[in-house]
Amino acid sequence: MYGVKIFLLVMVSLSVLGARESLSQQALKQRLEPIPSDEKTLFSYINDPSDPISEDKVELGKKLYFDPRISKSGLISCNTCHNLGMGGVDGVETSIGHKWTMNPNHLNAPTVYNSVFNKVQLWDGRVSHLEIQAQSPIQSEAEMAASTELVMERITSIPEYVAEFKKAYGKDVNITFEKIASAIGVFERTLVTPSPYDDFLNGNEDALSKTQKEGFELFLEKGCTKCHYGIALGGTVQPFQVAAKYKFIEIGNFKGNENGMVKTPTLRNVAETYPYFHNGQVWSLKQSIMDMGSIQLGIKISSKDADLMMDFMHALTGRKPVIIYPMLPRSTIKTPKPDMN
Ligand code: HEC
Ligand code: HEC
Repeated sequence: MYGVKIFLLVMVSLSVLGARESLSQQALKQRLEPIPSDEKTLFSYINDPSDPISEDKVELGKKLYFDPRISKSGLISCNTCHNLGMGGVDGVETSIGHKWTMNPNHLNAPTVYNSVFNKVQLWDGRVSHLEIQAQSPIQSEAEMAASTELVMERITSIPEYVAEFKKAYGKDVNITFEKIASAIGVFERTLVTPSPYDDFLNGNEDALSKTQKEGFELFLEKGCTKCHYGIALGGTVQPFQVAAKYKFIEIGNFKGNENGMVKTPTLRNVAETYPYFHNGQVWSLKQSIMDMGSIQLGIKISSKDADLMMDFMHALTGRKPVIIYPMLPRSTIKTPKPDMN
């Protein structure tokens, strides 16, 4: 008799526990995925076997990322607009490039941190490969405005760079514009930032505070993961203005891709990547969360819920890789001079 009672008690408590999935289980079910804690698995996620990551390529790519001489003026580097000390962004509404030119669609610079986890890049998702993407800002008139010839002449006129290319890609490999962009892309692949959120999904229950867990639960319940999912919590194109108009849609007149879809930004490091939305019109993270409720889900998110969700988003601020600012090789007398025109 006594035995049966205990048996029933155990069964009842098991079913009560079973009825409620853990927060991590719910998250995984909604297609969220942590950055793997095991380095080998992580490497297999970020590596592209057709142009494998190596220490020499990363070191070269890092120099080129910080080198303003791949811009026409000699003043603008990738880091100007994707500042690795500022969450991988420039912190202004719209990017300013060559000759103080604004992005023609008033587009805000997305972060380069974790961009390796995006399925597609750019606000309309028109490129997917980081190594290919890196070619376009160098040439774009509103960004670095350099012709491929100019970039080639600058780099090949600097013997240290030539030596580093040979070291990274092999003695017989010719330096090409594509290789220059490719080295930058390989460096970008390493810009991965594991966060308390990943620690939590990887099994550390204490990695999130009580209010962060509440905010996480709201994030799952309200349907944010319909679009913000995967390792990036974003990185795919999705419908925009599903339920209501975005108040600032006219600014820059950006229309998304041919179907009006917009790339969902990663929410990793979102507390650092203000201002928000494609044209950088919203400076408050709390406001952007509330706006998402009305624009994308047709719901009103209360101020209290938005605070909790914002608290959760702070758990997405990741640990940045240690980046030692590179000493860049000196130009030679043959290096084409900065051109401000
Ligand atoms: C003048 C500022 C500026 C410079 C310089 C610049 N970018 Fe960007 N970058 C932007 C803007 C603005 C966008 C969004 C453009 C779009 O969607 O059409 C962007 C988008 C990106 C993206 C896509 C990220 C995503 O989540 O969609 C990557 C990756 C990137 N840039 C890397 C680079 C690299 C590498 C360099 C240097 C070779 C560079 N950028 C130089 C402003 C800049
Ligand atoms: C239907 C798809 C969809 C849903 C659902 C959705 N989002 Fe978004 N989210 C997007 C897209 C697309 C953007 C970019 C919009 C733009 O800037 O044009 C975005 C942008 C954001 C941004 C700004 C990020 C930045 O760097 O500019 C935040 C924050 C955000 N979403 C949070 C949320 C939250 C919180 C929820 C749930 C309440 C949510 N989203 C629901 C698709 C979605």
